[in-house]
Amino acid sequence: MSTKPVSGTESRQYDRQDAWWIEPLFTVLSLGLFGVYALWVAWNRQHFEFGPYLSPFYSIPIPGVHAKDLDWLAISPAFLVLWIPLGFRATCYYYRKAYYRAFFWDPPACAVPELRKAYSGERAFPFVLNNLHRYFWYLSVPVVAFLWYDAIRAFFFEDGFGVGVGSLVMLGNVILLSYYTFSCHAWRHLAGGCLNCMSKHKTRYTLWQRITRINESHGFWGVTSMLSVWFTDVYIRLCSMGTITDIRLF
Ligand code: FES
Repeated sequence: MSTKPVSGTESRQYDRQDAWWIEPLFTVLSLGLFGVYALWVAWNRQHFEFGPYLSPFYSIPIPGVHAKDLDWLAISPAFLVLWIPLGFRATCYYYRKAYYRAFFWDPPACAVPELRKAYSGERAFPFVLNNLHRYFWYLSVPVVAFLWYDAIRAFFFEDGFGVGVGSLVMLGNVILLSYYTFSCHAWRHLAGGCLNCMSKHKTRYTLWQRITRINESHGFWGVTSMLSVWFTDVYIRLCSMGTITDIRLF
């Protein structure tokens, strides 16, 4: 796409006076720090569990397998699952817009010129891999199902059912992740795409309408669920290290 301003819009494109750079700066910092943190957590292999709480980074989507059962592995068990949510987010339509703007300045904001002179779309490596998004969605659904299992388990302590602050943190996290996963554009297309006549497919139409409702805030779910995964791991880590005390509400 040309960076040349459209005739008659020069002042609007090149003289933008507002703080348009705040959003790409926030994106660079949040995505960059989260990426580094996620890799460090996976590499670290410690403090990922406290009582019934399990860090989402170490939730292995294999029935009956706990991350601790895989201590014998040469690599951290977190890497067995990490590539799925990272691939899902990296190929997500919302994140694509965010990182194309923030990291590649392509363009950095509306009405601000982009850096590169030519645009080849997503037809060449590595960005052609973004077309795998639908498959990452398929893989992410079982991951979310296992996170629900972990969140329910977080209400069962050694002395029975109870509610700790950590239980609520884990529950909030999986709710946000569910909203993010099930507001996905690819899922919306799966539910209601390729239909010539919606009225002949009432169930799919109803599902599509519901997805559309939460899809409108997909960016919000994308950001809040990323922050909640981060917060949940930090919370469990600090409890496990003895830095903070998990409060048992009842
Ligand atoms: Fe964002 Fe699918 S478009 S998760």
